[in-house]
Amino acid sequence: HMTFRIAPSMLSADFGRLKEEVQAIEAAGADILHFDVMDNHYVPNLTVGPMVCKALRPHIRMPIDVHLMVSPVDDLAAAFADAGADLITFHPEASQHVDRTLQLIRSKGCKAGLVFNPATPLTWLDHTLHQIDIVLLMSVNPGFGGQSFIPSTLDKLREARRRIDAERARSGREIWLEVDGGVKVDNIADIARAGADTFVAGSAVFGAPDADGGYHGILKRFRE
Ligand code: DX5
Ligand code: ZN
Repeated sequence: HMTFRIAPSMLSADFGRLKEEVQAIEAAGADILHFDVMDNHYVPNLTVGPMVCKALRPHIRMPIDVHLMVSPVDDLAAAFADAGADLITFHPEASQHVDRTLQLIRSKGCKAGLVFNPATPLTWLDHTLHQIDIVLLMSVNPGFGGQSFIPSTLDKLREARRRIDAERARSGREIWLEVDGGVKVDNIADIARAGADTFVAGSAVFGAPDADGGYHGILKRFRE
């Protein structure tokens, strides 16, 4: 009965044709747009800000999933909510006050989530899960597309799944379990079996266009 969602990461799209690229993945059946925000401070890379989110918003219907790899978090979280983001996730160690940041995001009407680097412990969920909508486990170290899936993420996914199911039994609330980094056609089934329901894929999607430049073929292979 599990719902699976595919969230292509625009990090690997052609930035000169961003609108066409995100429309093409939507046409191919993508569920969510994963929008990677890097500040050259929290991670050693720099991408785009709320202006680009606002510019894309009217051109697609699917939810925009903003992954903030920035520090500090709060001002940009608010700016992305105002720019039309639907989901906003951040790295807890990058926020001065995690509870406050979660409240801020939800007060803006967005779903809120925490992101866990490969070495970040899930204990950050101990006192936060009741106000979380998404748990995002990084299966690479953040900063770049095209890295290899770190296998120990599978055990961590099982642990996160246990915590989420316990919260669901307690409160009835649905919490998404998202995985980000190195997701490919040949490992997505194992990742799903470990408990993930939402799959970010950058290079695997944008690196495998159809002959006409669309992405129907690769997204179909992801779902099989
Ligand atoms: C990495 C980003 C990812 C990245 C994934 O810091 O958070 O979303 O785009 O790219 P792939 O799927 O190529 O590993
Ligand atoms: Zn990401």
